[in-house]
Amino acid sequence: MKILVAGGAGYIGTHTCVSLLQSGHQVIVVDSLANSRIENIQRVQDITGKRVEFIESDVRDRASLNAIFSKNRIDAVINFAGHKAVGDSVNKPLDYYDNNLNCAISLLECMVSNNVKVMVFSSSAAVYAQSAEPPITENTRTEPMSPYGRTKLYIEEMLRDVSRADKSWKVVILRYFNPVGAHPSGLIGEQSTGVPSNLLPTITRVAAGDQEMLNVFGNDYDTRDGTAIRDYIHVMDLARGHVQAIQKLEALSEGRVLTVNLGTGKGYSVLEILKTFETVCGRKVPFNCVNRREGDMACCYADPGLAKVELDWESELGMDEMCKDAWNWQVQSIHLS
Ligand code: NAD
Ligand code: WQD
Repeated sequence: MKILVAGGAGYIGTHTCVSLLQSGHQVIVVDSLANSRIENIQRVQDITGKRVEFIESDVRDRASLNAIFSKNRIDAVINFAGHKAVGDSVNKPLDYYDNNLNCAISLLECMVSNNVKVMVFSSSAAVYAQSAEPPITENTRTEPMSPYGRTKLYIEEMLRDVSRADKSWKVVILRYFNPVGAHPSGLIGEQSTGVPSNLLPTITRVAAGDQEMLNVFGNDYDTRDGTAIRDYIHVMDLARGHVQAIQKLEALSEGRVLTVNLGTGKGYSVLEILKTFETVCGRKVPFNCVNRREGDMACCYADPGLAKVELDWESELGMDEMCKDAWNWQVQSIHLS
């Protein structure tokens, strides 16, 4: 299939492009490079030995998007384009509503105009209620805590409304848990602008000596070691989930919107990750326990059962690979930048 990947130069997008190309699909990436670099596209080509067509454009620019649809027979669209930082969204809600919602609307309008009605959308576990008891199923109550999470839920609802109005749409919504790690080559990974706020990129930064200590946010949670538990998923597993979604879309009955969690179903505490990282990577990570981070919940992990049934997908890579590949990317990216 020929797949338009919006936001495909970013972290999850590049890894998904690798998996799509390696599965025999053709890929066209449209990205404004607002949070990514053009070199990423070359690196996807280097890893796969296959060509990626790249258009530098804002997805909200309908003229540019329509031109891509007119020139190509696109079979499906994957939408990664948007802003993604939860904390940032609290301070800049309008930026998030503008960018995330308008990217989605622009894509949907151009798809309708060009009669392409097959979409995979990047949603997030950030749509679920904080009070939800794990394991989180797709039927767990949604109640996003942040403007970012609300943009994801509103886009999900938009996709459901569009599919209700026109039954020829086929849509898969993927709700990712905590994506981590990088391609094992170390050529692509997550590029943080400024100081990272997520756990594993902070651990690799401390291990590399760029930060003195890891602050462990809270050691008084009601969990096995007092630190918070999350469902971390290797980005290559996540990428494979998109390939499966694209493949299963063909068989999806028209007008159906399939909403699926992509997680491992296993929860790791902050200290468990820290210890795994130290063992696998042979580096010490000094840490300091500090107060809980506002808005954090004690424990969150997915019930990944529906993904197995509907997409024939389950995670394969464990915490050892997540830590090893995150560290490899940290080390390699110094040479690449
Ligand atoms: P990323 O920032 O690395 O990738 C997003 C890409 O979209 C970037 O390359 C950026 O330049 C591009 N972009 C942003 N606005 C654009 C616009 N208006 N027009 C064109 N391109 C634009 O983020 P990521 O981690 O790869 O996340 C991809 C998607 O997955 C996002 O929608 C994010 O909300 C979602 N998601 C991410 C996580 C995570 O932890 N990384 C978790 C759940 C969901
Ligand atoms: C994980 C755990 C922290 C940093 C976020 C978004 C979510 C999704 C993925 C987009 C927590 C602890 C962290 C540190 C720490 N993104 N921690 N010290 O908050 O679970 O999820 O990213 O859709 O929507 O909210 O991920 O990596 O920030 O934190 O102790 O320096 O690590 O308190 O328990 P989070 P995270």
